[in-house]
Amino acid sequence: MATLIDGKTVAKSVTDAVKTAATTLEAEAGVKTGLAVVIVGDDPASHAYVGAKSKMAKECGFTSVQHTLPEETTQEELAALVETLNADPSIHGILVQLPLPKHLKSDPIIQSILPEKDVDGLHVVNAGKVATGDLDGGLVSCTPAGAMVFVRRTHGEDLSGLNAVVIGRSNLFGKPMSALLLAANATVTTAHSRTKDLAAVCRNADILVAAVGRPEMVKADWVKSGATVIDVGINRVPAPVKGEGKFRLVGDVAFAECEKVAGVITPVPGGVGPMTIAMLMANTVIAAYRKAGRKPPKF
Ligand code: GUN
Repeated sequence: MATLIDGKTVAKSVTDAVKTAATTLEAEAGVKTGLAVVIVGDDPASHAYVGAKSKMAKECGFTSVQHTLPEETTQEELAALVETLNADPSIHGILVQLPLPKHLKSDPIIQSILPEKDVDGLHVVNAGKVATGDLDGGLVSCTPAGAMVFVRRTHGEDLSGLNAVVIGRSNLFGKPMSALLLAANATVTTAHSRTKDLAAVCRNADILVAAVGRPEMVKADWVKSGATVIDVGINRVPAPVKGEGKFRLVGDVAFAECEKVAGVITPVPGGVGPMTIAMLMANTVIAAYRKAGRKPPKF
């Protein structure tokens, strides 16, 4: 049976370290770390995520500012808010919650955030730094950064000789995840929907990371015995046993069968999910340290 990674516990260890770092920065440099979160429209799931981010920022001792804009906000109005936050010295991190309402273009907004305040790590400057292996100069996007914390705590800093397979090639996750594994010396395959014999490719993985958005796609016979399996998927599937119209959350990995084969595995929920918010807090305090001309802590 695999060892389970408890994402909540690991996330708490990260946010505890963030709190300490924020307190130190305030005591020694008089700088209070500031995070601004922007949400447009009324999507309930997005509001729940944003509420959790703002709350955690307060718990970390940050100045936490939330801008809630109406659905009918124009591109120009949203761009103007980002400009204001870019110029605000009390704000070290800016996060614009995605997806934006359909009439708004997200890319020009994300690219207008100053790279040093882009705590989501989505600006091309930050994506480019990850792609070129410059991990200390930019900000790494939160979900791959969180998944890498699990990898490091399982295998250490140096993944030399290990085969890693990432299923999924999105800009948000698959590409940066592959780049981070490569920077740590793993031999990396980025697999996707056009990959031939995906099961065979996955069976070669010492570290298997699934981020495809297909419920329980990864089966036990895709997993090498003793492998580390990290499940980044969050899928809502019908759960009639809970009652009519009820849902439950499952990952991209068929957990019950894969935990019998894997060495280490993350659950869904309670695996990678809690790490995303923790790494957002880590990025924000890192941004504040850099702005204050101090060497940021590592998380
Ligand atoms: N929507 C869902 N996840 C995320 C995230 O990590 N960042 C942003 N900005 N929006 C999201």
